[in-house]
Amino acid sequence: MQSKSLTVNQRVEPVTAEVNEKNHLSIGAIDVVDLAAKFGTPLWIICEETVRQAAHAVLDGLKDYPLATPSYAGKAFLCLAMAALVKDLGFGIDVVSEGELLTALQAGFAPEKIFLHGNNKSAVELKLAVEKSGVKIVVDSLSELEDIIALAKEAGSRVPVMFRIIPGIELDTHEHIKTGHDTSKFGIPLEELSQLVRLALANNEQIELLGLHAHIGSQAMDMAPYLQFVDVMADLYASIQQKFDYILPDLDLGGGLGIAYTSEDQPLSLRDWSRALSERVKSAFAARSLPLPVLSLEPGRSIIGTAGVTIYQVGHVKELQSAAKNYLPIDGGMADNPRPITYQAKYTAVVANRMVGEPSREKAWTIVGRYCESGDIIVEEVVLDAKRGDLIAVYATGAYNYSMSSNYNRTGRPACVLVKDGQAEVILARETCTDLLKQDRMPSWLAPVILPG
Ligand SMILES: Cc1ncc(COP(=O)(O)O)c(C=O)c1O
Repeated sequence: MQSKSLTVNQRVEPVTAEVNEKNHLSIGAIDVVDLAAKFGTPLWIICEETVRQAAHAVLDGLKDYPLATPSYAGKAFLCLAMAALVKDLGFGIDVVSEGELLTALQAGFAPEKIFLHGNNKSAVELKLAVEKSGVKIVVDSLSELEDIIALAKEAGSRVPVMFRIIPGIELDTHEHIKTGHDTSKFGIPLEELSQLVRLALANNEQIELLGLHAHIGSQAMDMAPYLQFVDVMADLYASIQQKFDYILPDLDLGGGLGIAYTSEDQPLSLRDWSRALSERVKSAFAARSLPLPVLSLEPGRSIIGTAGVTIYQVGHVKELQSAAKNYLPIDGGMADNPRPITYQAKYTAVVANRMVGEPSREKAWTIVGRYCESGDIIVEEVVLDAKRGDLIAVYATGAYNYSMSSNYNRTGRPACVLVKDGQAEVILARETCTDLLKQDRMPSWLAPVILPG
């Protein structure tokens, strides 16, 4: 276990992770071996206390900023229970699809606490957001703004909007999770911004222009690009005030703070990140004689990532002596965790039923998934005392695992349980083969088969 002095997003394991008297991993005061026996494997476990500590770290970092409204980026992990939990913590929520929007509404979020993002929102999504009066739409293009004006006219409503812009900031992270650079597919190019502001102000009865938004990328480790980013935003607020005599009341700086997937990752703490961002907003806006905007931050990964642990069972162990390679095949893999094959992401794994192993039996194992891709590798070369039937725990799988998971090879998604103070309850039921077959239809010209249900 890592030092307790590391704060949430800087640790690899959930804050409640312990080795119990049976030498088993326990999370939320429950033996993981018992969880696997009761709920099966693969199993996603979410530690509620870790989510709570992460959210409190953000609130603590923002406590000296008078007008802060933190949100949770639902794309990292969203289901009804997670939405209810972040709502309970006082956060707003970012959604990017009809499914996420309906989940937030069903969990009881007031429309005013919801931001709808996306670079190509569907007509259904926009209409739903306009009808649920109060949802803030983060506009990504000129044509989208035109569509919203038309929808607002039809509905006779006034829609609060933010403009997502491309700030031209390059984050040092994987190519696929950079979003603030000049060629990003997300956001409005700066040269078009005036045109959108003009159009929004000219349609003041339909559009309440709140401010600008940008998100510079994900799995960021340090502060420097964020500080530069705040200055870019403050300059834009100053130039809009000068050009249009209009003060944008809100500012949204996105999310993106990283977490530790292995002990080599050393991200800034959530508290320091949110504090440094809000302090920079104060000084940058004061330096330009601008009033302080209502400040939104929208972390996703750093709120839920460390809270998640995936439990797998080891199947048929393979030791390739001539190639000096030892494979530990597990009963899940790239369908429940596509990050290694997508981003070459690194993870930390332990044997959950033998946390302290016998050193003489330890060797380097490559933990491989069960899916039909050679790249389905969850952890490369980890030294473990492991054997067939063991339970492998992979840490820091709370973010972008369930939400990016698939039914590859026609397998159902694992169950997910929320653990807290010795209690464990299912928050996402395991998908069965019957669930998958239920979606199938047979065209009339093929031989009839018996469909389930
Ligand atoms: C607009 C926006 N906000 C927030 C986030 C959350 O980022 P993270 O999970 O890295 O904090 C993302 C992630 O892609 C995003 O696109």
